[in-house]
Amino acid sequence: MNRRHFIAGTAALAAAGAAPAHASTIKPYSWELNPPTDTRDNFIAWGRARGEDVTFLGQRWDRFQALVRNKDVWDAKTSRSFLLTPREEFASVNQAIHKRAYEHNFLDIGFGVTMSGPHLQGRMTNVIDVKLGEKVLEIGTGSGVQAAYLANLTENTYTIEIIAPLAQRTRQLYDRLIAKGYTEFQHIKTQASDGYYGWESAAPFDKIIVTCGIDHVPPPLLQQLKAGGVMVIPVGPPGAQRVLKVAKIQGADGAITTTREDIYGGKIVPFVPFTKLVDGKITGTHNR
Ligand SMILES: C[S@@+](CC[C@H](N)C(=O)[O-])C[C@H]1O[C@@H](n2cnc3c(N)ncnc32)[C@H](O)[C@@H]1O
Repeated sequence: MNRRHFIAGTAALAAAGAAPAHASTIKPYSWELNPPTDTRDNFIAWGRARGEDVTFLGQRWDRFQALVRNKDVWDAKTSRSFLLTPREEFASVNQAIHKRAYEHNFLDIGFGVTMSGPHLQGRMTNVIDVKLGEKVLEIGTGSGVQAAYLANLTENTYTIEIIAPLAQRTRQLYDRLIAKGYTEFQHIKTQASDGYYGWESAAPFDKIIVTCGIDHVPPPLLQQLKAGGVMVIPVGPPGAQRVLKVAKIQGADGAITTTREDIYGGKIVPFVPFTKLVDGKITGTHNR
């Protein structure tokens, strides 16, 4: 079985001539960039000075306000990551979904999969409470926007996608955005493989975020989570998962235990399935 069949990074694509040269139009990233959170006008003026599109800045602000009202984001660093991320770029696969980038709902991004909605992403991101310097693994790169939020929280973001052409499309998008000036996406390492087995060579991880649904917590992912680490994962039967926060705890005697907490208090949240790679082909799911 070939679990890992493709790894690509900025350098590899650039060397292959695949990263198109775009003039940098966006003010490059720094950890000191802090978008205003006091008024819509101030936020838009700040974003415009960074080089962003005013229409989408307004939509980003309005969705951010809804996230705060709904308690889907509640801390300053997650708020900052939402306000800095050009969500519209990750919905740019076609015009129809591009203009819907800031809607509540998930969006069809092709390949039979979706880009999760901003409220769900906000809550899952806030729950894992990523601190600068921590190593985070995402399973299910999809559109790339979830890892983009993580890239504003730490420089050590790893993301795995099982659909190789989708992984490649999103890798190329990151590279285009980096060339445009969104240098924060250099914090993201990508891989096309079956995420059930994690990313062994980069483990252990402080945090893991799984964005596809499965009926159990994959043992390799739990194993690659640090003691004291936290995973957020949709667990349950097909189309009827509950989003769990799983904490891995090491007792004084060295014994490992886990705790589980439903981040929606029992609400069912359907996710696309956690599929399986067999001999390089996606074949069924990892459900038991
Ligand atoms: C809800 S979608 C995308 C969510 C994504 N984080 C985003 O923001 O667009 C879940 C993704 O998980 C991927 N996926 C499913 N099974 C997987 C596996 N075994 N390993 C890695 N990715 C997987 C799907 O192909 C899909 O792209």
